[in-house]
Amino acid sequence: MSVSLKECVKGHVDNIAPYSPGKPIEILEQQLGIKNALKFASNENPLGPSPLAIKAIRESTHLWNRYPDSTSFFLRQRLSEQFGLSMDQFVIGNGSNELIELVCHLFLGPGDEAVVGHPSFPMFKIAIDLMGAKSVMVPLKDHRFDLGAMGRAVSPRTKIVFVCNPNNPTGTIVTEPEVQEFMRTLPESVIVVFDEAYHEYVQHKQYPDSLRYLKEGRLVVTLRTFSKVYALAGLRVGYGISSEEMIALINRVRMPFNVSCVGQVAALASLDDKSQLSRSVKVNSEGMAFFERELSAMGLGTVKSEANFFLVDLKMDGRTACDELERRGLIVRSMGPFGLPGSFVRIAMGTQRENERLVEGLKEVLGGRKPKKGKGPSRKDHVEIP
Ligand SMILES: Cc1ncc(COP(=O)(O)O)c(C=O)c1O
Repeated sequence: MSVSLKECVKGHVDNIAPYSPGKPIEILEQQLGIKNALKFASNENPLGPSPLAIKAIRESTHLWNRYPDSTSFFLRQRLSEQFGLSMDQFVIGNGSNELIELVCHLFLGPGDEAVVGHPSFPMFKIAIDLMGAKSVMVPLKDHRFDLGAMGRAVSPRTKIVFVCNPNNPTGTIVTEPEVQEFMRTLPESVIVVFDEAYHEYVQHKQYPDSLRYLKEGRLVVTLRTFSKVYALAGLRVGYGISSEEMIALINRVRMPFNVSCVGQVAALASLDDKSQLSRSVKVNSEGMAFFERELSAMGLGTVKSEANFFLVDLKMDGRTACDELERRGLIVRSMGPFGLPGSFVRIAMGTQRENERLVEGLKEVLGGRKPKKGKGPSRKDHVEIP
């Protein structure tokens, strides 16, 4: 007897499109038989982790045969000192991604709704849909979350609103006055998840302090990560900040040992390295300014971003542009899967030399020129891992 899995699987799972990640460097190199490919596709930190994190990882080998501390005690303790909040207001996730799913697990089921801007980080919709709930997608306005429209999309069935600030893939933010007005009119029973994966990069003076609403007693979860400015994406560590009651609930649906001991010690050590943090932010803003100059000289407009990536309209088919760039060992992200017009691509920051190589590649592709032969700068030349 042959059984069709399609008949067995939960109905709503059948409609979920899997997350489509940026292509790993090693795979592109193997596919094309090239070396020194560069990745600008996943909003990572090109400088690599803090030397303090690397030292802590090296010194952690005696922990590897044991299960990790399931409560991430020392990391939560350190975060509680940094934020002046209780340790029980923090939960550590296998990336902030896991925490998005856990919050959805807690509050969403069939018949419930969650509101999110569109386009935004695809995992919001995937996690909502996974629970059999309805994702209410509210179009962005001028590439920014339209909090007014999102407030109007809230219904009696709405349990969660996701505010991605800065938003991925646009890099734009919503401001303090906008959030204040949104929170004023939002029913108090609706949970607001502020995803602040790119928080540390933001320079804008009106960037809101989401923790303020937590302190006012609102149902708020703030998500941050060690994957971006702390350059630990491969180790999968993110954290959530909320009320003790909310965190206790999240811990009920969290699997034990969700964060490796290596991730925990690396994240802890990273928090001590303020100079790596400011260097990462500086390299990022210099890179942003470089791209803005170069791309505007090429007649291309970029969306003003507060994060470590930006959107650009290449005025040609984005997928073709990405393929052509990949032939040159340059990985950027086409925005079709995010639901943006096909000519948009998203570019994450590299080091200055990497950025220069990408601009050269873009000039070739947009000018219809063939890839230049010869060796570009090696990623190993300047990814500064001691
Ligand atoms: C807005 C946003 N939230 C969350 C994440 C997930 O990050 P993490 O590596 O912490 O799971 C990303 C990753 O790209 C992101 O862009």
